[in-house]
Amino acid sequence: MRSVKISRLEAGMVTAETLYNPNNGTVLLPEKTILTDKTIAWLESLQISALNVEGDLAPEELRQPDPATIRVRSSAEFKRFEREHEKTVNLYTASINDFVLKNKMFEPQRLVKALMNLVSGKQYRFNILEMLSNLKSYDDPTYSHAINVALLTHTFGKWLRMSPSELEILTLAGLLHDVGKIMIPEKILKKPSALSHAEYEVMKTHTLKGYYKLKNAEVDPRICEAALSHHERVDGSGYPYGLKGTELSAFASIIGITDVYDAITSPRVYRDPICPFKAIALFEKEGLQKYDPQYILTFLENVASCYLYTDVLLSDGRTGKVIFINRDQISKPTVQLSSTEYIDLCKAPDLYIERML
Ligand SMILES: [Fe+2]
Ligand SMILES: [Fe+2]
Repeated sequence: MRSVKISRLEAGMVTAETLYNPNNGTVLLPEKTILTDKTIAWLESLQISALNVEGDLAPEELRQPDPATIRVRSSAEFKRFEREHEKTVNLYTASINDFVLKNKMFEPQRLVKALMNLVSGKQYRFNILEMLSNLKSYDDPTYSHAINVALLTHTFGKWLRMSPSELEILTLAGLLHDVGKIMIPEKILKKPSALSHAEYEVMKTHTLKGYYKLKNAEVDPRICEAALSHHERVDGSGYPYGLKGTELSAFASIIGITDVYDAITSPRVYRDPICPFKAIALFEKEGLQKYDPQYILTFLENVASCYLYTDVLLSDGRTGKVIFINRDQISKPTVQLSSTEYIDLCKAPDLYIERML
């Protein structure tokens, strides 16, 4: 690994560690990202001075756009999904701004119906995770993040086999978890560079602001609680109160996970979608003990299972098919390389899935 000044970066260099947005924890660039001219120009605009990159230039084949990305984005069904998604973002933006800024109650049924219209009764060739990670990046991600977390939360609730009525409330809780952000001054919410300590303290109040706004409107208490506690972590490291273990509600624990997953995988103009196994590895690196074990394992295992029997490129250039998810290390499944050759990535510490094919 070596540190290279931004002005000296070259397309093809590979990041040696994950670069995070210090303001909101979103992943700007995951570890092992191959830099393009577009990415480098964007890093310059962020006024980042240097970046740790790996020693060697990336192999030529890794510089090509991700085949899975091309396949999803060029399909007619994805283009339809993207149009419908944008309409839903616009509907949500109008409803929620009226609610927060003009005290006009939103219509929960209408919002849920619009969300369900995006997912139910449709047989997509691609799973919802692929669709969401391939969407265009929005200038103001506050509203699209709400829609994406609602859809991810709905999917997670189905994996947890929730009843339809509970699933509806959970989906709404996902949609409204960050409603308090609309009450955060724009100069903090949209600040492109790192927040000062004082600004970060203001940003954290979106949990309390959202909670009181929803509570005063007599919204279901489970939704209010999720807005308050979705940044709490079971090991006590979260905010606003540093709650621990069973002090967290089920809805807050669930949305705490989908919120982070969206922050890791949400679309960015300057990079391809993050490979789901790299996203899972980021959770494992952060520490699964931060999350309720009954939820985090179900979530990550189901995410990984969406990619069973999918072709992947390994970090050493070999290709294969994911055939078995290892519960001990979900980011490192067993991959079939040929009709007679298999590799358990758990037993190959230096090897990982580079991208989906
Ligand atoms: Fe939040
Ligand atoms: Fe959020």
